[in-house]
Amino acid sequence: MSKLITLGEYVIHKQQDFPHATGELSQIFGAIRLASKIVHREINKAGLVDIIGASGSDNVQGEQQQKLDVYANEKFKAAMEARGQICGMASEEEDSFISFNEGHSKGSKYVLLIDPLDGSSNIDVNVSVGTIFSIYRRISPLDGPVQLEDFLQPGNKQVAAGYVIFGSSTMLVYTTGNGVHGFTFDPSIGVFYLSHENMRTPEDGKIYSINEGNYIKFPQGVKQYLKYCQEMDPETNRPYTSRYIGSLVSDFHRNMIKGGIYMYPSYANAPNGKLRLLYECNPLAWIAEQSGGKATDGRRRILDIEPTELHQRVPYYVGSKNMVEKAEEFLRKCP
Ligand code: AHG
Ligand code: MN
Ligand code: MN
Ligand code: MN
Repeated sequence: MSKLITLGEYVIHKQQDFPHATGELSQIFGAIRLASKIVHREINKAGLVDIIGASGSDNVQGEQQQKLDVYANEKFKAAMEARGQICGMASEEEDSFISFNEGHSKGSKYVLLIDPLDGSSNIDVNVSVGTIFSIYRRISPLDGPVQLEDFLQPGNKQVAAGYVIFGSSTMLVYTTGNGVHGFTFDPSIGVFYLSHENMRTPEDGKIYSINEGNYIKFPQGVKQYLKYCQEMDPETNRPYTSRYIGSLVSDFHRNMIKGGIYMYPSYANAPNGKLRLLYECNPLAWIAEQSGGKATDGRRRILDIEPTELHQRVPYYVGSKNMVEKAEEFLRKCP
C-alpha cells in the first residue's frame, strides 16, 4: 500500500540524513522524476505512434540504437541541462561525456552517469524496460571544465543511484546510502508515491537469471554453478527456478524483491561480459548492497573496481548474498 508521501517530499525529508545536504540533490531528483514521466508517457504510446524500432544508428559500443534509446537519452540530458546542478553527463548512448559547464551549470558539483533505456530490445514486444542512473560528486576543480576523471570514479563514491522500471506499473527505486526506497507512479495524477520503504533483499532465493543461450561459452565455474542450481535437494530448495527477461532492470528488480541471483559472466570472445560498469553495474550494485544483497565480478566487489574507461564492461553477479557467495565459490574452484 502506498503512503500518501510523494517522491519529491520524501527526498527533501531524507535530505536531513544526507551528509552534504544543500538542496541540490533534491533538484537533481526533480530532473530525473520529470524525464522519467516523459519517458513513461512515450513508452506507453509505443505501438500507437512511430516510436518503436531501430533509429538507424549505432552507439559507440556497436549496438544498434533504438528510437527510444535516443529519445530517453535526449530527455534526461535536457532535464539535467536545464537545471544546473549537474556539470556533466556520461551515457551509454553518447560517445564521450557531455559537459554542461556553461551558464548556470558552471561550478556545479555533480555528474550523472546513465543508461537511459535499459532492455531496449524489449520495447518492440511490450516487455518491461528501465532507466538506470548514478550520481557522483565531481573531483576536478569547480571553476574549470568537467573532466574524464570525474566520471571514472569507483562505485563506492556514488552519492545517489537508482533505477526506473517501466513495467506493469512504473516505479522509481533509489538509494543515497540510507537504505533503498521505492515509489510507484500514479499516471492519473502524475505523481510517484512512496510504496516500498526500506526495501530488503532476501539473503537466500530460488531464482537464477542468466542468458543460457551462451552456455557453451561460459567459464567452467559458471557451468558447474548452473548444474548446482538445477540439482534436486529439498533441503536447499533446489532445483531453483530460471527467470530471464533480458532487461537487466526488470530481472534485478524481481530478484531483489523475491530473492535470486542475476549473472552476466565473461564468455568466450567477451572476457568482460556485456554489462557496463558505470551505467549498469555500479548503480545496481549499490542498491543491492543497500538492501542486504551483494554484487561482484566473481572475485571482486563491484563497487571497489577502479574504472579506466567510460564504456568499460565487467562480468556481473548480483542479488541475494548467499547465492552470490555460492556462485563465487564455484568460480574460485574453477575460474
Ligand atoms: P541495453 O538495452 O541498455 O543495451 O542493455 C541490455 C542489457 C541488459 O538490459 C540485459 O540484461 C542484457 O543486455 C541482455 O543481454 P543478452 O540479450 O545478451 O542476454
Ligand atoms: Mn544498449
Ligand atoms: Mn542496459
Ligand atoms: Mn540502454
